[in-house]
Amino acid sequence: MKELIEKINKLKKEKNAVVLAHCYQNAEIDEVADFVGDSLYLSRMAAKTNADIILFAGVYFMAQTAKILCPDKKVLLPNMDAGCEMADMINLQQLRNFKIKYPNTPVVCYINSTAEVKSECDICCTSSNAVQIVESINAPQILFVPDKNLGRWVEKQLGNVEVITYDGYCPIHHNISVEDVLNIKKENPNVKLLAHPECTEEVSSLADFVGSTTGIMNFVKNSTDKKFIIATEKGVVDRLKRDYPQKEFVLIKENLICESMKLNTLQDIYTSLKNETFEINVNKDISQKALKCIERMLDVSKTGAVK
Ligand code: 13P
Ligand code: SF4
Repeated sequence: MKELIEKINKLKKEKNAVVLAHCYQNAEIDEVADFVGDSLYLSRMAAKTNADIILFAGVYFMAQTAKILCPDKKVLLPNMDAGCEMADMINLQQLRNFKIKYPNTPVVCYINSTAEVKSECDICCTSSNAVQIVESINAPQILFVPDKNLGRWVEKQLGNVEVITYDGYCPIHHNISVEDVLNIKKENPNVKLLAHPECTEEVSSLADFVGSTTGIMNFVKNSTDKKFIIATEKGVVDRLKRDYPQKEFVLIKENLICESMKLNTLQDIYTSLKNETFEINVNKDISQKALKCIERMLDVSKTGAVK
């Protein structure tokens, strides 16, 4: 593994490439990553890099977002099968059908969506800034696609905006049940539960803290507690265990894994950089419209760094 890491780092220098890695990636990928974080942080880093090549160790919509932000750079995704089930739950026609039912209502899309969907939404958000973004619109009613759970959570935080949600969800977070929460809390009394807002409303309402990947990591960093129950993808727990060896972390249920995120391996990253595959391209017209949606978000939101 050490040899492979060295080879990747050498190629990065030779090709002036930068590697962005989402926290759900296999943890060893951090060894070759320039930036590790949540969706918001990584899109910010993509927007400001001077590199010629951006390799995105994440899923398709993330690489696509990087390409929209940097149309003149080469953007690579190491494994083309790394998609996002939630992003694929809404296509352009489904979005249009949804919008037609609520004319003149602003549409917010979660960054976990395709470029086509972004191109016909007013503003984008990530789980780090969803509340801030919806609030910034200053409308009594908004449409939110595709994640119904994040939309519900935002509505609850604000209290004065009606959030009409599309019926999408992340299968990994959505499958955490109230029963899972009650069982783990029984086994770990007085241990705080930290959950991602992609979890269902019922699960989020039982959590002690609800936040994005970076939000959860920052909560641990700033807490004096020694043990936590984590309700999000396993990659976050792997990094927390590595970064806070003196603390204990319990993943709410076994196999809470986004298989797509785990498709990228160090070998894939090496091959991808060496052969400059698989290059992500976005239709120019779609890209320009989607860019406006993403840039509006970046203008109103703050950063969310891990590395
Ligand atoms: P964040 O990176 O915003 O926490 O979102 C999690 C996720 O599901 C990424 O696909
Ligand atoms: Fe998509 Fe869920 Fe995987 Fe994130 S964890 S990439 S939302 S399927």
